[in-house]
Amino acid sequence: MADTLTITDNRTGRTYEVDITDDTISAMDLRQIKVADDDFGMLSYDPGFKNTASTRSDITYIDGAAGILEYRGYPIEQLAEQSSFLEVAWLLMHGELPSQDEYDQWTYDITHHTFVHENMKDFIDGFHHDAHPMGMLVSTVGALSTFYPDAKDATDPETRHLQMTRLIAKFPTLAAFAYRHSIGWRPSYPDNELSFAGNFLNMMWKTTELRYEPDPVLAKAMDRLFILHADHEQNCSTTTMRTIGSSDADPYSAAAGAVAALYGPKHGGANEAVLRMLEEIGSVDEVPDYVQRAKDGEFRLMGFGHRVYKNFDPRAAVIKDLAHEVFEVTGKNPLIDIAVELEKIALEDDYFVDRKLYPNVDFYSGIIYQAMGFPTSMFPVLFAIGRIPGWLAQWQENLLDPEQAIARPRQVYVGERNRDFVPMSARS
Ligand code: SDX
Repeated sequence: MADTLTITDNRTGRTYEVDITDDTISAMDLRQIKVADDDFGMLSYDPGFKNTASTRSDITYIDGAAGILEYRGYPIEQLAEQSSFLEVAWLLMHGELPSQDEYDQWTYDITHHTFVHENMKDFIDGFHHDAHPMGMLVSTVGALSTFYPDAKDATDPETRHLQMTRLIAKFPTLAAFAYRHSIGWRPSYPDNELSFAGNFLNMMWKTTELRYEPDPVLAKAMDRLFILHADHEQNCSTTTMRTIGSSDADPYSAAAGAVAALYGPKHGGANEAVLRMLEEIGSVDEVPDYVQRAKDGEFRLMGFGHRVYKNFDPRAAVIKDLAHEVFEVTGKNPLIDIAVELEKIALEDDYFVDRKLYPNVDFYSGIIYQAMGFPTSMFPVLFAIGRIPGWLAQWQENLLDPEQAIARPRQVYVGERNRDFVPMSARS
């Protein structure tokens, strides 16, 4: 049997042979299907790209039915348990785990690129006191492009690696600076003696002490949460990063777009929305009524459902276990009882089971973040710190992929045609 698809166009009786590769057909092969010779040819129509592969990639593998997630072939459970965020960032960008020398140099490079230009402080000071930190992050990441004009030459491997290093190193700094602005505190500068996650906690929480000592359990938990968020194949924000990168825009501008896409409550903004939902439910007793209202279509259960996972999200399972480690230090967040009850009731209910709606990565992460002292508005920012290595690895893959071109989808036009202009005096 040949790896081809035979298509019969019943409008003309013609048949076409289309190659099947990796269980896909090339959309361009549909263009030969026409009624009249001067037709443009057939397109595929796929709002939200629910059934469209935009690229070949060897970065992240997801099996939504089996609840499998692997970065460069390594299971997320093993990486979360045995690796570090910087090691995973290297793995995503380079395809292999680093040698000890590579890891030491990488850690040194990241540590020594955490500072931002002092003018960035003035830029952040310009925001209103209650500006959402994601809005500040979109702006400040984009502003970084003005400090590094050399980033435009992304085809040069050394320049590209330097920009990727800068972005991974500076995301926590910009995130913490945004938070400190929102509480009216001066920024806490990076401390090069601390780990990546420990330094982030230092920039967030340092007050009058000479040197901030991050709690090792919380720093480790933060590092593992960053690992769990590091990449997730062609999600909304990664597709945005690739799309902007496809025009040869610099990686700072592309990352600003990716942060903007992640901000949405259907995507990375869901962890913030989950906490607000749990606080609105208020108690375990109120859960059944809330679930019924979701089933009635009043709203969506935030933190539930996923475009790809039609079984459990493996990240949610790891994060749920992580919560108990954090609570040993911070004290238990009472919202977890509501979350556990909500998960239990939903997973026994046909509405959710039939639609394959299970807790996703955002369902439990916010409960941990709140217990660690982060305000809900910072939750999507924490997601972005974890995801920047994945965005960059995907952006780089897109840049180097000879099959790729500037992203420019087609449309099905359903509007008016050939209308004559109507002067104002003649309009009703
Ligand atoms: C992330 O893509 C990624 O990989 C994203 C991410 C990553 O790491 O990058 O994993 C991170 O974004 C996780 C998702 C976080 N978002 C949320 O938790 C928001 C709530 N969930 C959804 O809005 C929704 O589930 C999506 C957006 C996540 C997925 O939506 P789909 O696949 O487009 O599904 P759909 O909107 O077509 O819904 C299918 C049905 C509908 O019901 P019917 O119209 O068939 O009757 O399921 C229902 C929806 O109404 N439904 C829900 C629901 N999600 C879908 N009903 C109640 N609660 C929900 N959460």
